Amino acid sequence: MMHRGGIQFLALFILLHQVRTFTLVYGNGIPSSCVKLEAKYKQSLGLDGTDTVEIPEDLQVPAGNKLRFCYFAEGVQEYKFNGTAWNNFNASAILLGRENQIMGQHFYLPEADNLGGQPTWETFSPWSMVTSKPLKKILVMKDATAWVLLQSTHESGSRKRFGRVTYTQRLFTSGSLSPNSSSSEGAVYGQYVESPYTAVYAYYTKHH
Ligand SMILES: *[C@@H]1O[C@H](CO)[C@@H](O)[C@H](O)[C@H]1NC(C)=O
Ligand SMILES: *[C@@H]1O[C@H](CO)[C@@H](O)[C@H](O)[C@H]1NC(C)=O
Ligand SMILES: *[C@@H]1O[C@H](CO)[C@@H](O)[C@H](O)[C@H]1NC(C)=O
Repeated sequence: MMHRGGIQFLALFILLHQVRTFTLVYGNGIPSSCVKLEAKYKQSLGLDGTDTVEIPEDLQVPAGNKLRFCYFAEGVQEYKFNGTAWNNFNASAILLGRENQIMGQHFYLPEADNLGGQPTWETFSPWSMVTSKPLKKILVMKDATAWVLLQSTHESGSRKRFGRVTYTQRLFTSGSLSPNSSSSEGAVYGQYVESPYTAVYAYYTKHH
């Protein structure tokens, strides 16, 4: 009995802990592209459409910014082994709009810009580009890469796309876990691994 009680207590604690640290961000007035992609994400994970998906408080964008649009990303994260650890050095993903149309692509600049930004998103038509640096990462799901909050370091091109994006969130990830220590046995310096993933990227601009 004691033992079972202990397990129940632990389960309750984990549940409460999650409820406390997660708050709901998406609600009324969110862009339809984000609503649609959230639905797609839930479907891909077999969640009920009415299940609420909550964004960790630490990944929330500072006040004064507004969620404008979302894209769904499908592609790979790229890791390289440096002798002791696997590092995420690039990505190659297409960005899909709410009707599954290709809007652009995601990759890393060959070198960080002078504000430390490297992860980059580009739209094709109209052309625009934003480079960002990660501020916070949180593993939300056990079997998927982290959710991330990023701050823009350089924006250009169409102001209807990435031209004035201030913050980006990587949410609702699947796949792309970095290779772990057991998979580094036998790995050689410079070895390269591609890890398939999907995610929803949410883009914010200054609230006027
Ligand atoms: C390899 O990467 C890890 C993690 O980023 C870092 O701490 C370490 O210093 C790197 N080692 C070399 C030899 O560059
Ligand atoms: C990432 O890959 C793209 C091509 O897909 C390339 O243009 C870019 O230089 C690469 N970035 C790094 C950091 O290797
Ligand atoms: C480590 O990586 C290997 C190979 O990718 C995988 O089979 C294994 O499940 C991973 N272990 C953990 C603890 O993630």
